[in-house]
Amino acid sequence: MRIRQHVNPNLSFFAEFRGERPRLRGVPIEVEIGCADAQFLFERAAIDPGRDYVGLEIREELVGIVNRNAAKIGAPVHAVSCHAQHHLELIFGEAKVDRVYLNFPDPWFKKKHHDRRMIDATLADGIARVVRPGGDVFVQSDVWEIALDAMEVLDRRDDVFENLAGEWTFWRRGNPYGARSWRETNAEETGLPVWRLMYRRR
Ligand SMILES: C[S@@+](CC[C@H](N)C(=O)[O-])C[C@H]1O[C@@H](n2cnc3c(N)ncnc32)[C@H](O)[C@@H]1O
Repeated sequence: MRIRQHVNPNLSFFAEFRGERPRLRGVPIEVEIGCADAQFLFERAAIDPGRDYVGLEIREELVGIVNRNAAKIGAPVHAVSCHAQHHLELIFGEAKVDRVYLNFPDPWFKKKHHDRRMIDATLADGIARVVRPGGDVFVQSDVWEIALDAMEVLDRRDDVFENLAGEWTFWRRGNPYGARSWRETNAEETGLPVWRLMYRRR
């Protein structure tokens, strides 16, 4: 199957929700926005199978692959085809999610593609609505401009997100979750620096 490298999230095609809401068990929910192959969520599920893991992904081909792989090994991982900025609340409802991961969010680091970036004020609003008070929001990127952009968006919402490293400060204690996404593994192997942010929903 041909998997597209990138899709333009601004196409009107993506405004409508065509995915399927996952059937969850009423246990804590962890969500990766832009999960791709969901390597990170499969590793999380292996560590703590008592939670549900939902990957949101705009490239539909990947959603089928992740769900088939999850079914094959009986992992509590579910991928949902969606546009994260438009559909977060529709998928989860208010204050239902325990943790959100934004791992290496997007390839749109050029200035001319700024309006395609995933972490923007609309996404911050959506995350604020679906994460329960006390829940975590973790961001990682190997692209300085993207990491800075994410801090700009999320620290501006200090009415809802507390930056656990201190205001306008990157998180320097590494990735504490015991799982690595494909891009994180790649960054480690090639020696790229990774910038991280850790917030708590107030
Ligand atoms: C650079 S990849 C990172 C994948 C994975 N998180 C990792 O760290 O290996 C970013 C992913 O986000 C997806 N994506 C980009 N914009 C999105 C959006 N608005 N909604 C959902 N997924 C999106 C892309 O299709 C891509 O798979």
